[in-house]
Amino acid sequence: MFDFITEEHRMIQQAARDFAQKSIAPIAEHHDETGQFPIDTVRQMGQLGFMGIEVPEEYDGAGMDTLAYALALTEICKVDASHGTVMSVNNSLFNYALIKFGTEEQKRAYMSPVARGEKIGAYSLTEPMSGSDAGTMKSRAVLNDAGTHYLINGRKSWVTSAPYADFILLFTMTQPEKMHKGVTAFMIETDQPGFERGKTEPKMGIRASATSEIIFDNYECPVENRIGAEGDGFKIAMAVLDAGRIGIAAQALGIAEACLEASIAYAQEREAFGQKIGQFQMIQQKLADMKCKVEASRLLIYQACLAKNRNKQTGERYTLESSMAKLFASEAANYCAKEAVQIHGGMGYSREMPLERYYRDAKITEIYEGTSEIQRLVIARQLTGLR
Ligand code: CAA
Repeated sequence: MFDFITEEHRMIQQAARDFAQKSIAPIAEHHDETGQFPIDTVRQMGQLGFMGIEVPEEYDGAGMDTLAYALALTEICKVDASHGTVMSVNNSLFNYALIKFGTEEQKRAYMSPVARGEKIGAYSLTEPMSGSDAGTMKSRAVLNDAGTHYLINGRKSWVTSAPYADFILLFTMTQPEKMHKGVTAFMIETDQPGFERGKTEPKMGIRASATSEIIFDNYECPVENRIGAEGDGFKIAMAVLDAGRIGIAAQALGIAEACLEASIAYAQEREAFGQKIGQFQMIQQKLADMKCKVEASRLLIYQACLAKNRNKQTGERYTLESSMAKLFASEAANYCAKEAVQIHGGMGYSREMPLERYYRDAKITEIYEGTSEIQRLVIARQLTGLR
């Protein structure tokens, strides 16, 4: 039916499914329980090419397209959304920023090692007092008199993968009076003086992915590490989030599929009042609604992937398609997780089964990389052209 899905797409999807089943499924519960970052499996995912799916082969990536990325990510997240979070940040927030806005030297120095799975990347936009209103950040970068370095100071929060990241794509203010037009992007090397990691967030879900604050105290960033021109940072951040939001939609779809599959199996075997619970209309309604939401999410994700693939040729924005996919799939995942717990009853609430983990993991997809409220704002603005 979907003739845009090639043999190559099916192969990476299958490879991700096999890896997730064989290597992630046995450890997912332990890492969720302990909150320990699964560094070994994250490295293995890199060796298998899952951390640079859209990175061209000349830069050590898999040289595939966005659909390949979304298919693979969905399979990983179907087993464990935490691994998927690390994969999505490396691919769509970090590598994609460099594919689109990096210089040749920046691509070789920062993107290739992440694509090879040797290094971990992160993306840092949010600050303690600047979340959805991303143009109001307080951190600063000031160019020195010699014009060789920026001195960076300030505090950023909710940085996914920061506790383990080697490189961080940072957005900070160079000209605060210009608001969003004063934001500039920089590549940060986390082993340099002036960089420190702050408190790690004790999260409700995706607990095996590591998230922390980062602190800059007179960090000296060479001008060669500026990504794009001064003042271009906000547009870079937004353009990269367009790509990132497709990743979060794929993550949400993986969680929703896991919930649906578990629920179908349970409905087929669990009996109550002398029959399978799948014979009760109230359970049937839940399963039917879950299935429709899963398939509708998938179609919106395909549409967004194809729009992003087209962007390579036309340069046309795919903001609308990306936000629609993210909004719908994240709400579908939350619906499916809630109903899956309900269908499983007490077992759904028990830590002995992964349903409650899916329920906790699903929630973040409605929050990070732009809340559902922000997605609705973006979609409506795209429709009306009004701000
Ligand atoms: N692509 C390219 N340019 C874009 C763009 C896009 N998708 N969206 C906006 N722009 C441009 C606009 O065209 C405009 O350009 P001009 O100045 O030339 O007119 C400029 O950026 C400013 O746009 P807006 O006026 O629309 O900006 P705004 O201040 O009203 O904000 C917003 C818009 C949609 C609310 C935006 O701030 C937003 O998306 N906020 C949410 C931020 C977010 O998602 N944060 C999550 C961070 S990452 C994370 O979750 C952590 C992690 O590690 C995973």
